[in-house]
Amino acid sequence: MRLDRWLGNRPELGRQLARRLLAEGRIKVNGATTLQAEREVFAFDRIESDERLLQDGPGGRYLMLHKPRGCVSATVDTRHPTVLDCLDAGQRADLHLAGRLDFNTTGLLLLTNDGQWSRGLSHPRHKQTKRYLVTTAEVIPPHLVAAFAEGLYFAYEDLTTQPAHLELLDQRSAYLTLVEGRYHQVKRMFGRFGIEVIALHRDRIGGLALDPTLAEGAHRALTEQEVALLRPAD
Ligand code: URA
Repeated sequence: MRLDRWLGNRPELGRQLARRLLAEGRIKVNGATTLQAEREVFAFDRIESDERLLQDGPGGRYLMLHKPRGCVSATVDTRHPTVLDCLDAGQRADLHLAGRLDFNTTGLLLLTNDGQWSRGLSHPRHKQTKRYLVTTAEVIPPHLVAAFAEGLYFAYEDLTTQPAHLELLDQRSAYLTLVEGRYHQVKRMFGRFGIEVIALHRDRIGGLALDPTLAEGAHRALTEQEVALLRPAD
């Protein structure tokens, strides 16, 4: 429901006062003042009028997991362990994955019960970057830096990849930062040049880094600041 209607329906406000509060910049959504009457309100939004709490949402949950090798980024799989097997049974309820990593890719994976947050994260408009540490079997030729920055044509999807940033670390390892997440994108980009990726690890999504104290398979709740960091601006 639109924010102006949502506010107007509150018995303690009513339509007139709701309109005034909005126009005067006295309404905050998730900590930020908003004047956008048409903004959608979701169950997990925290809504305040002046300092009065109107809705606190029923407990959004946000976890970062250090995904280990050999598990599927899914909530159910008949053949393999899933990333949910890294959590205690009691912690899994209602969680879904905000993004995926391949079976043998390790690193930062986010889980939440807040669909608005995860949709915002994966929406191309918000261009959340993802950084991967790539280890290859063959030497990485330096001309890949320019080729990846220019974009590669993927015939299957009939598209050219967005400019990607390749930072060579040594002959067989590099950081690759993408603003999108096509199917097996990193492996396919290197594969185009006959280079096999033998290890792949995601260490950042946007401004959020994988907590270095988390061992493979371990997880922790995101802090409020971390959740806000990945929330799209209105
Ligand atoms: N690109 C890949 O090829 N695999 C991943 O898991 C993520 C990005």
